[in-house]
Amino acid sequence: MDKFIIHGGKKLKGSVKVSGAKNASLALMPATLVNNGINKLYNTPELNDVYTMLKLLSQMGVKYSFNNHLLELDTSSITSYEAPYEHVKKMRASIYVLGPLLARYGYAKVSMPGGCAWGPRPVNLHLMAMEKLGAEIQLDQGYIIARSNRLKGNYINFDIPSVGATGNTLMAAVLAKGNTIINNAACEPEITNLCNYLIKMGAKINGIGTSILEVEGVDELKPAEIETIPDRIEAGTLLIAGAITRGNIRVIGGVTHHLHSLLSKLEDSGCKLAYNKDYIEINAEDVEVSPVDVTTAVFPGFPTDMQAQWIAYMSLANGTSNVTDTIYTDRFNHVPELVRLGADIIVHENTARIVGVKRLTGAKVMSTDLRASASLVLAGLAAEGTTEVLRVYHIDRGYQKIEEKLKTLGADIERVEGSEY
Ligand code: EPZ
Repeated sequence: MDKFIIHGGKKLKGSVKVSGAKNASLALMPATLVNNGINKLYNTPELNDVYTMLKLLSQMGVKYSFNNHLLELDTSSITSYEAPYEHVKKMRASIYVLGPLLARYGYAKVSMPGGCAWGPRPVNLHLMAMEKLGAEIQLDQGYIIARSNRLKGNYINFDIPSVGATGNTLMAAVLAKGNTIINNAACEPEITNLCNYLIKMGAKINGIGTSILEVEGVDELKPAEIETIPDRIEAGTLLIAGAITRGNIRVIGGVTHHLHSLLSKLEDSGCKLAYNKDYIEINAEDVEVSPVDVTTAVFPGFPTDMQAQWIAYMSLANGTSNVTDTIYTDRFNHVPELVRLGADIIVHENTARIVGVKRLTGAKVMSTDLRASASLVLAGLAAEGTTEVLRVYHIDRGYQKIEEKLKTLGADIERVEGSEY
């Protein structure tokens, strides 16, 4: 298992380009199962989660080529409608094959995703929606077995605007007979990217970008191509790398209106920001960082996937702040590790109380999940001395060679392959 060795205290400077969005790719790839032919996904990031989805799709019979961020997926010879436990246990997003397989082939056998690093993540909303569309759902030996001769449009209301359940329902409803309304749908940019892709295939969807999606089912969809949106969470993580090291960096390609909640918090903390359609620049040189409270919410609120990175940043603020996670109330595995670096943080229920300290000091810290590991890398960049971030396979799931990108900004970070931990 690889680890990172970071010699902290360097102010980051320069420009860095954002990759395509992991959470968009993980929806766009299974969406190709609703048609029959060669699909082109541009700006696809080279991430371990993308390769995990590719393995899942290829064992179903999807043929692919992946060069220079262009992923071509040929769905003309699907032979299996099953997502085995071996794949799903590695990545919950594998559940995204349920809707398209059911809609296109009338059958899907998908392993139930188990728990995740920070607690239960049920899929009841996904199953409720498939049943509302007329599917017969059975749970058998840890598998969801879904059958339908032809899905039928229906009115679906989500108690929680789940990203995954919205995506799965969209990929099912586009081939259902009749109209479907998805009320309290997720509005994340990744869902908008998915909607735009389905429309390119010939789907009929209204209300894109809003919490009420209307889908008029069609009989057939054709292969299509789409540009994957930039990764707003990677962009946010890089911006905080600039802030926490009191540096001055330019993040190329991030979409500003995907990041407003974070940008306004960074300005509240004292950073100077400049942005246009091509880049977002953050200048934190000589900034006395102010403590800024954050409460996570669904888009366009402050993303839960930036919560850990914000806590790392606030650990060096000039005062006390509170960070509350309303999406995942127990997503705080990074806190004990940040405390090992000298941070002063106490978690009570779903709120972390961060008392800013003057400095962090390097130590060995353990990654537990994707965004937690990103927060440890950020803290290591700011800490005095050497930080060893262990088990960075977590970060490789969602960041494309992050150490290379940070090095281009002047960070002193090395990947050590095959360490004992
Ligand atoms: C997506 O997960 C992202 N993953 C997550 O990013 C992100 O944290 C999350 O959305 C929230 O923004 C991908 O897109 C692959 P949800 P998803 O369904 O779809 C509850 C990262 O770091 N819920 O919107 O699984 C659920 O427990 C990852 O990149 C139900 O109760 O999230 C949670 O509290 C981590 N029943 C809330 O809804 C359901 O059937 C939001 O979950 C589904 C969800």
